Amino acid sequence: MQPPITVPKVRSAKSREPLVMITAYDAPTARWAEAAGADIILVGDSLAMVVLGHDSTLAVTMDEMIHHCRAVMRASSRCLVVGDMPFGSYQVSVEETVRAAVRFLKESGVHTVKLEGRWPDRVEALVKAGIPVMGHLGLTPQSVNRLGGYRVQGRTVEDARELLAAAAELEAAGCYSIVLEGVPAEVAQEVTRTISIPTIGIGAGVACDGQVLVIHDLLGMSPPPRPRFVAPYARLGDGAVTAISRWAEDVRARRVPTDEQSYHLKRTDADTWRRLFIQEA
Ligand code: KIV
Repeated sequence: MQPPITVPKVRSAKSREPLVMITAYDAPTARWAEAAGADIILVGDSLAMVVLGHDSTLAVTMDEMIHHCRAVMRASSRCLVVGDMPFGSYQVSVEETVRAAVRFLKESGVHTVKLEGRWPDRVEALVKAGIPVMGHLGLTPQSVNRLGGYRVQGRTVEDARELLAAAAELEAAGCYSIVLEGVPAEVAQEVTRTISIPTIGIGAGVACDGQVLVIHDLLGMSPPPRPRFVAPYARLGDGAVTAISRWAEDVRARRVPTDEQSYHLKRTDADTWRRLFIQEA
C-alpha cells in the first residue's frame, strides 16, 4: 500500500508534479478517487448543489457536511481528506470558527479544513489549534450574492493585485495551500509564482501547482450548462439513464429476474411443494 498523503507532503509539492484533487461526497466516489490515485479528496460544500439539489452552496449545514465526510473517511485510506467549512460556520467570529472546525475534525475524521475568502485571523487561530487550513480565493461560491453571480474574479489589474495580496496574507497566516477558482490564467500564474505554498486551480489555467474538479462534472453527471473549464472524461449520467431504461423495459416485458437470477426451494422440498400447491391448483 502506498504511504498516505499528508499536509506536509502537500505543502512540499510546490512546483513539483501537479497535485490532483477531486471532490467526493460518499463512499463510492471516495473509492473511485482512491483507486484512480488522486492525492487529495475534497468533501466540498458543492455537496449542496451536486448531491443535495440546492441552487447554491449556502444551504448545506455542518451536520450534513459531517455526515458525508464520515462516509468518505470510511472509504479512503491514502488520500488527504479536506472538509469544506460550510457557509455560516466561520463568518461570525474567530471563536466560533475554531469551535466549528474542532467539531468538524472530531466528528468526521477529516484531516484538514478549507474555508473561502480572506480570513487571516481565522486561519491563524485554526493553525494554532492544530487544524491545517486550505484557503480558497477568486470565485468563492459562498459569496455568490455579493459577487452578483458565478463570475470570474481578478479580471482588472486592481482586482488582480487584491488577489495577490490576499494570497500572500493567507500564506502568512499559515495556510498550507490555496484553491484559486475562476481567475484569469495570467493572474493565477503570478499568484503561484509569488507564494511559496501550492496553488490548486479550478478555472484558473494550467500554471497552478495542482488542479481540482467537482467529480460530478468530471464524470458527466451534472446537467448543463457546464463551466468552460469542464470537459467531462465520461458520460455516467447518460449511461445511468440508458441502463435504467433498459432495465425498465425488461421489467415491463417480464424478462427479469431470469430463472438464474431467482432463488428456488431446496431440491428435496421442491417435489412436496409442487404436490401441495401446484397439483392442487
Ligand atoms: O465545494 C467545492 O467543490 C469546491 C471546489 C470547487 C474547489 O470548493
